[in-house]
Amino acid sequence: MDKKLLIDLQKVPHHVAIIMDGNGRWAKSKGMNRIFGHRNALTAVRESVEAASQVGVEAITLYAFSTENWKRPKMEIDALMSLLINSLKKELPDFMKNGVKVNSIGCIESLPYKAQKVLNDVISETKNNTKIILTFALSYGSREEIVNAVKNISKKVVNKELDLEKIDENTINNHLYTFNLPYVDLMIRTSGEQRISNFLLWQMAYAELYFTDILWPDFRQEHFYDAIIEYQNRERRFGKTSEQLTE
Ligand code: FPP
Repeated sequence: MDKKLLIDLQKVPHHVAIIMDGNGRWAKSKGMNRIFGHRNALTAVRESVEAASQVGVEAITLYAFSTENWKRPKMEIDALMSLLINSLKKELPDFMKNGVKVNSIGCIESLPYKAQKVLNDVISETKNNTKIILTFALSYGSREEIVNAVKNISKKVVNKELDLEKIDENTINNHLYTFNLPYVDLMIRTSGEQRISNFLLWQMAYAELYFTDILWPDFRQEHFYDAIIEYQNRERRFGKTSEQLTE
């Protein structure tokens, strides 16, 4: 049965965020090192973007490297950066063919120069694509993002470019890395862990959270659609009562 057929195309989440977890455990279960797990994570990335695009998801954001991930062994960090560089280069023709607009969030300046260069090139090449926005969260931490937003807003207040009384939710939102993205409707985390791990805290305020035991390298289109189906079966009340929603 094609799970895609079970999806109501009128109620697809606008923005899906994914915490791709379990690469290390997947590799260990096969008697291999963690880097082997990361290398085998790319099919899941491809399948998720493809699946999202096919049902009309507007934006998909992948937590590829957190601010905390800098604490990992240097060999693993180097391998992840090489993987990022090589896969971005390799995927560019497919991004163009499939209308994928690449975007990034996080402290991109802290990435190795080569990674920044390839990322910026791919962002620039794909900037006119319109089918789906694929955002890589790299050296990303949500609290750091919020701190930066507060600093930038404060500077504008001090410089009298912004009136303190006029600060509202939109002001905060417009100063986050994600200013150009819709709020997250659905967050998927693989590998059985049930945490948000400093990912898009503001943006996920009303997101549905979906946790699956599948380890990220095993995640496929059908699993992505399972998450969408579950999302569509939940009642999103945004603080209202069930009765108010049906009125
Ligand atoms: C979590 O698994 C995964 C990461 C920290 C890195 C995510 C990176 C990829 C999916 C590689 C490909 C991505 C791009 C953008 C090229 P883990 O290592 O924490 O696994 P564990 O919890 O089982 O140890």
